[in-house]
Amino acid sequence: MTEKQIKRIGISTGGGDCPGLNAVIRAVVYTAVNKFKWEVIGILDSFNGLIYPDQIMPLGIEQVKDILHQGGTIIGTTNRGNPFLWERTKKDGAVEVVDYSDRVMENFEHLGLNGLIVIGGDGTMKIAQQFFEKGMPVVGVPKTIDNDLSATDVTFGFDSAVRTATESLDKLRSTAESHHRVMVVEMMGRHSGWIALHSGMAGNAQFILIPEIPFDPEVVAQRLLERKEKGNKYSIIAVAEGAIPKGGEMSALGKAPDGTIRLGGIGHKLGERLSDLTGLEIRVMVVGHIQRGGSPTEFDRILGLRYGEAAVHLLANGDYGKMVALRGTAIKGVPITDAIGQTKKVFPNGTMVKVARSMGICFGDE
Ligand code: F6P
Repeated sequence: MTEKQIKRIGISTGGGDCPGLNAVIRAVVYTAVNKFKWEVIGILDSFNGLIYPDQIMPLGIEQVKDILHQGGTIIGTTNRGNPFLWERTKKDGAVEVVDYSDRVMENFEHLGLNGLIVIGGDGTMKIAQQFFEKGMPVVGVPKTIDNDLSATDVTFGFDSAVRTATESLDKLRSTAESHHRVMVVEMMGRHSGWIALHSGMAGNAQFILIPEIPFDPEVVAQRLLERKEKGNKYSIIAVAEGAIPKGGEMSALGKAPDGTIRLGGIGHKLGERLSDLTGLEIRVMVVGHIQRGGSPTEFDRILGLRYGEAAVHLLANGDYGKMVALRGTAIKGVPITDAIGQTKKVFPNGTMVKVARSMGICFGDE
């Protein structure tokens, strides 16, 4: 389909929200409406709006002109419900799994859509790829605070999450120092340690514990005591929710709605263990969902605008099945398949870890 044949496109946001989603939505609408004279329809709550087609919202300049600085997403999101494995509750209360993908394809046609821009992380991109393989003209935009999506240098939302986590570390320092305490600060990130690594470095944590470098609690305890002996009044430990003690396991809170493991709890477990090992006074803080909230940073606003504008051009050029990606300083279109299935991890021997170690930061392994 050529850009002239396209009349109307849809946009959806899937998975956990993050700062910058509205920047992408704004850029998509401005570019589609002003440059190509297309109509834009917001598909509410991820793919739900294509299962129940009353859940849509026309998006014009009026609806998006003032949303750039706003956190969240004006079209809603969910990390529940894959249309290919939809959980439907029967009259008797039992739950059955049904494939609603044909229904989504039909509703896509009925709504007169000629293309769909899907903004999401790994799980959402997998679904987008499945719809592309069914013949839907889909393009993707990579989003997640975790920065764990392959094929792009950075996802939008990450910078804002790092800002919030760093601010937490900055604020905790004075109280840690006043009370001569150890603060354990748990951060999000799923199976990657990007948020803990970046905020730990920027926020001057003395310990950073990430999934990519299993840590030994006894090593951490030993280093804490050494710091105290040297006259340091306090210590700050940035721990990623997916961090793994040597010989142990990731700390899980249960199952997430999408069936993946819900991580969390390592902060409190580690705090207790270190208290036993050192006798030091320890407090634990879980930064939690504020990492996903609030106004996006300037970096995320601009990256979101660049991604949104580029995604519209992918549709205009018929580059379906592709995802916009930041490569160096350029925005490129890459196959969605390059982005899914492999988590982008911190490289334990990479530059960032090397710089951190040179700053004396302990990763709990030596
Ligand atoms: O993927 C983003 C993220 O915030 C992860 O860092 C975290 O593990 C998860 O989502 C939390 O999900 P929920 O909002 O379902 O608790």
